[in-house]
Amino acid sequence: MRLPGLGGWSEDPLWSYVYPWLVDHEPVGPLAWRLGTGSDLSLLHDAAAELGTLPAGARVLDVPTGSGVALRGVRPGQGLDVVVADISATMLRRATATARRLGVADQVTPAVTDVASMPFADGSFDLVVSFTGLHCFPDPRRAIQEMVRVLAPGGVITGSSIFTDTGRRYELLRRSGTRAGILGPMCTSTEARTWLLEAGCDVVELTLHGALGYFRATRQPGREATA
Ligand SMILES: C[S@@+](CC[C@H](N)C(=O)[O-])C[C@H]1O[C@@H](n2cnc3c(N)ncnc32)[C@H](O)[C@@H]1O
Repeated sequence: MRLPGLGGWSEDPLWSYVYPWLVDHEPVGPLAWRLGTGSDLSLLHDAAAELGTLPAGARVLDVPTGSGVALRGVRPGQGLDVVVADISATMLRRATATARRLGVADQVTPAVTDVASMPFADGSFDLVVSFTGLHCFPDPRRAIQEMVRVLAPGGVITGSSIFTDTGRRYELLRRSGTRAGILGPMCTSTEARTWLLEAGCDVVELTLHGALGYFRATRQPGREATA
């Protein structure tokens, strides 16, 4: 039975086994990604590299972490404080295994949490990453408010999502994902941009690529988050 409002992820659907394999395995992963989303998996991997540019002591939130694909950006011994958060305990176990495999487990703390109501203090992270996540959440606007709330003034939020204004070509992907319970209501890229600004960000960069969009925004210094 599917739990209401959780997009089916908390039940460990079959997709939650297939998806982590795809994001980490070449050449099948990039090919399937290209066929399914019209985008390049390398964009996700490139975006994760931002974690490797942070100074020791930086605090990072990766939500939803899934199997921890963003951790490939962390360098052993870098001295980061990375919280990997997800609603699925099974996914978090995979993220923890990824952290061990990459030799960065000492920098990583797992947290089972719903993005809509996270147990973290306001302004407690320098970087929030949210890859391939917004489209899974039952309330993407709420998720954006919450992710910006925990971001320190001047901090950066970056991520990717399937958006609904990326053309009819991807309608089958969106509809089948929703039917399967792994995609939520989703939003347009314009809504995401508006909600990031409303939540207290400025300088929103957003680039569409196939069914996906990649966004990056800075939390305005000196402005309260709205959540
Ligand atoms: C498509 S995966 C993406 C994970 C990872 N960031 C990546 O790019 O590979 C989506 C993840 O969202 C998680 N998720 C779904 N609803 C959630 C919620 N309300 N709060 C936190 N995580 C959620 C799922 O458990 C799943 O691990």
